[in-house]
Amino acid sequence: MNGKSGGALRLVLFGPPGVGKGTQAAVLQERRRIPHVSTGDMLRAAIRTGTPVGLQAKAIVERGELVPDALISALVGERLEGDDVRCGFILDGFPRTVTQAEFLDRALLARGMVLDRVINLTLPEEDIIDRLTGRRVCVRCGANYHLQLKPPRVVEACDVCCGPLSQRKDDSQEVIRDRLRVYGDWTAPVLEHYRGRGLLIEVDGRGAPGEVAERIGRALRKPAA
Ligand code: AP5
Repeated sequence: MNGKSGGALRLVLFGPPGVGKGTQAAVLQERRRIPHVSTGDMLRAAIRTGTPVGLQAKAIVERGELVPDALISALVGERLEGDDVRCGFILDGFPRTVTQAEFLDRALLARGMVLDRVINLTLPEEDIIDRLTGRRVCVRCGANYHLQLKPPRVVEACDVCCGPLSQRKDDSQEVIRDRLRVYGDWTAPVLEHYRGRGLLIEVDGRGAPGEVAERIGRALRKPAA
């Protein structure tokens, strides 16, 4: 693994809903020039454009449940065929079950790739709920805001493209509770899959995005536990 800026890096950004995976993935994408592969974004794009996958996933995503392993694994497997991921990627939102983690092992092996690190971002539950209930997303370009913590310069308009901002359907209080329960039941156990392999690094997700990015940068320069 190359922990220095600009080197190849195959990374899983792990952690509960709202911990800041997407925010940090955007920073890493910019700094490392490697693609951010977000299964949540892939599913929302499929839903928006009404593809067969989107039609199957829509109600599941809106309820905060997990789409079937086979469906999401097929999407990720296809994405890993892209030329742009050969020198690195940041996986965000995958794997979310032990079955998906096993799929990823096989998919990487088949392509002659290895995972360098799994970063587990942590945050107290009350902060997670604050971050998710205040999140707003640009309908046009997908840029991410928070009403208090990262407000746009103009109310309800995107800084990047001036598009309108909206709240994700799964960011209601009720669905957030369900997503956290699903995370505890299905996704947290994936950590054990990686812990014994020396890939896992825990990073405190509290504080401003820049502080968290600095912690991630430092963590990537250290050997994993
Ligand atoms: P997905 O989109 O992956 O949702 P998630 O994991 O719940 O993560 P979020 O996008 O909600 O949060 P995040 O950690 O990226 O935080 P963010 O940076 O946005 O998945 C959505 C759904 O798709 C799932 O529920 C499921 O149905 C389906 N799905 C996806 N992958 C699947 C899979 N593998 N298998 C099965 N189903 C799957 O930050 C949140 C807010 O906080 C933002 O407003 C941000 O501006 C703010 N913020 C971030 N960092 C900070 C900071 N340091 N300080 C202050 N504010 C901050």
